[in-house]
Amino acid sequence: MPDLILPGLIDIHTHLRVPGGEHKEDFATGTAAALAGGVTMVLAMPNTNPPLTTPAALEMALSEARRSARCDVGLYAGASPDDVQHLPALARSTVALKIYLNDTFGKLRIEDVPVLVECFKTWPREKIIAFHAEKQSVAVAIGLAAIYDRPIHIVHVSRREEIELIADAKGRGLPVTCEVSPHHLFLSQADLERLGPLGDMRPVLGTADDVAALWAHLNDTIDCVATDHAPHTIQEKRSATPPPGVPGLETSLPLMLSAVQDGRLTVERLTALLHDNPRRIFGLPEQPDTRVEVDMTPWAIPVGGWRTKCGWTPFAGLMAGGRVRRVVLRGKTMVENGEVLVPPGNGRVIGVSATEFTDFTADTD
Ligand code: NCD
Ligand code: ZN
Repeated sequence: MPDLILPGLIDIHTHLRVPGGEHKEDFATGTAAALAGGVTMVLAMPNTNPPLTTPAALEMALSEARRSARCDVGLYAGASPDDVQHLPALARSTVALKIYLNDTFGKLRIEDVPVLVECFKTWPREKIIAFHAEKQSVAVAIGLAAIYDRPIHIVHVSRREEIELIADAKGRGLPVTCEVSPHHLFLSQADLERLGPLGDMRPVLGTADDVAALWAHLNDTIDCVATDHAPHTIQEKRSATPPPGVPGLETSLPLMLSAVQDGRLTVERLTALLHDNPRRIFGLPEQPDTRVEVDMTPWAIPVGGWRTKCGWTPFAGLMAGGRVRRVVLRGKTMVENGEVLVPPGNGRVIGVSATEFTDFTADTD
């Protein structure tokens, strides 16, 4: 008997690198990592190469996801000043829009108010707009939500000032939700000396005070835990110009379970952060007959042995509170004793309107 049974987890923030970054990750390896971590549905970000800002680039990602995803995948459309006219077309086969207000890996970035306004006017109201917003950009994103009176979601919140601004916005009834990533909960600037470039990501690791603020808001202000799984090869991370980003799909639930073991988090709250709220906020479909069976024996996170193509973790040596024993998706066992059993192609692409792409949503079971 497993110690704990959870619903199939939903990770609303991953980078699966298709098209253009397949040497770092692809749908087959990224979704194997997801399943091994108890995640049965992932949303993949648009900062690919080319980015998912045009129907042609999106079609590349969609057809590859259909061919090789092992769990369910939804894609984000990207907003870019040159491609805003494509947003209505992109909306038909994506789950949400991503707007980058701050610099990160890749070139996607919006600085001009007219382009932001165009996004809010043309992106369908029923699909959420997610923001990479740091420091004062959080106020810009919240301001847009208030002006246009529509929900926004702020990704990977990492600083005290940001989570407190979001708490105030929520207190005033503004339609704002947010996520935090495990690296901002379990690592801080103090780990940088040890980790070097392996501890570099956007937003950067916070101070001990930032970390304390995130933990203090985990039971109210924070809606979701999302990995921001951002694989780069170890060679790239050790190069003279290391790209920011760390993998996280296989370690998110195990780390969060350590908070359950410590009494910092209830199983109910864990389930809300990793399943219920992501599903509600992004309007994601239910996965019937789906569950994750967990063994609650603590274990130390190893250096290697990962399914992600990048093969490393910034969390090696940290204690995890439990591990995934078995994953069942739509009645089919996908993971057993930590082994991913399911071949590529078993996942569904979600967020694609049935009238446009009936073949994309066909049952492959
Ligand atoms: C992400 C990546 O590598 O794509 N990197 C990161 O440091 N988080 C981009 C992002 O999510 O900002
Ligand atoms: Zn990201």
